[in-house]
Amino acid sequence: MATVAIAGSSGLIGASLVYALRATDHRVLRIVRRAPSNSEELFWNPDTGEFDASALRGVDAAVNMCGVNVGAKRWSGAFKQSLRDSRIDPTEVLSAAVAEAGVGVLINASAVGYYGDTGNRIADETAPQGRGFLAQLCRDWEAATAPAQHAGVRVVLARTGLVLSPRGGMLSRLRPLFSLGLGGRLGSGRQYMPWISLEDQVRALLYAIFHDELAGPVNFTGPAPVTNSEFTTAMGRALNRPTALLVPGFALKTLLGEFAEEGLLGGQRAIPAALERAGYEFRHNTVGEALAYVTSTVES
Ligand SMILES: NC(=O)c1ccc[n+]([C@@H]2O[C@H](COP(=O)([O-])OP(=O)(O)OC[C@H]3O[C@@H](n4cnc5c(N)ncnc54)[C@H](OP(=O)(O)O)[C@@H]3O)[C@@H](O)[C@H]2O)c1
Repeated sequence: MATVAIAGSSGLIGASLVYALRATDHRVLRIVRRAPSNSEELFWNPDTGEFDASALRGVDAAVNMCGVNVGAKRWSGAFKQSLRDSRIDPTEVLSAAVAEAGVGVLINASAVGYYGDTGNRIADETAPQGRGFLAQLCRDWEAATAPAQHAGVRVVLARTGLVLSPRGGMLSRLRPLFSLGLGGRLGSGRQYMPWISLEDQVRALLYAIFHDELAGPVNFTGPAPVTNSEFTTAMGRALNRPTALLVPGFALKTLLGEFAEEGLLGGQRAIPAALERAGYEFRHNTVGEALAYVTSTVES
């Protein structure tokens, strides 16, 4: 039985990871930003740096899934700052605590946005940093793990793709539109969407906790990324709805600004080279399989 401390444990990925660890008889300590309600919760204030590192003594692994949702609002200057602060500050605080307490491994969230818009080019973990706000954010977020890396902790930079989940995440916003027959490709539809099912995301995080050969950048994406057009077709098929509409790029840019450009009209053809090399086996290998799992889970 391992003891795993998790920050961002109330989120889409964090909450599922807590459930999966407890279901497999591991002990979970939730690192919370409010008063702890039991002995399995540890208080921290990542804004001020308040965190008692000694609480992590004896902990086998720490996982950091913190961050304000990138698609929650139009990207104003203030919102972009909150995207940075809610990732970089918690990572610095947890990373220093992990180093001080001698925790063996830190799994820290990052995103495939690191690669910028790759167009048609395949991006494994050796691909260079791309351009744009998200790429720079991911670079700085990953660099904030330096205290743990310098202390010799095994650090996994979990460069996550678009997590497809029956609850929450991108699909919860898209699904109602598609269900009304209002689904359609975005812009040219040629931009890649590096999807991963929530089930694989959580299984792969568990795999990373317990497999020492995984360290450094690791793409958490399904084995076969698809273009936005292909995703749209697959979504229509899963919901049995037409997807003939086209949402023009200029309209998205007018409505959503910079987020539309980087988050919706650009994309990454990211592949999970490190996970596959380490022997991780995906439950959902195609976007069709992932969407069938997601939509059937919602319906049941
Ligand atoms: N879901 C995706 O498709 C996806 C894709 C790429 C990357 N990621 C990254 O993976 C991580 C987890 O994703 P998710 O989908 O589970 O996110 P989520 O559902 O939005 O949850 C993120 C969690 O971060 C914590 N948080 C929120 N605001 C914060 C703040 N101002 N300061 C510190 N912590 C804050 C909260 O946990 P507590 O209240 O428990 O502290 C929240 O539940 C995020 O960093 C996200 O950027 C996700």
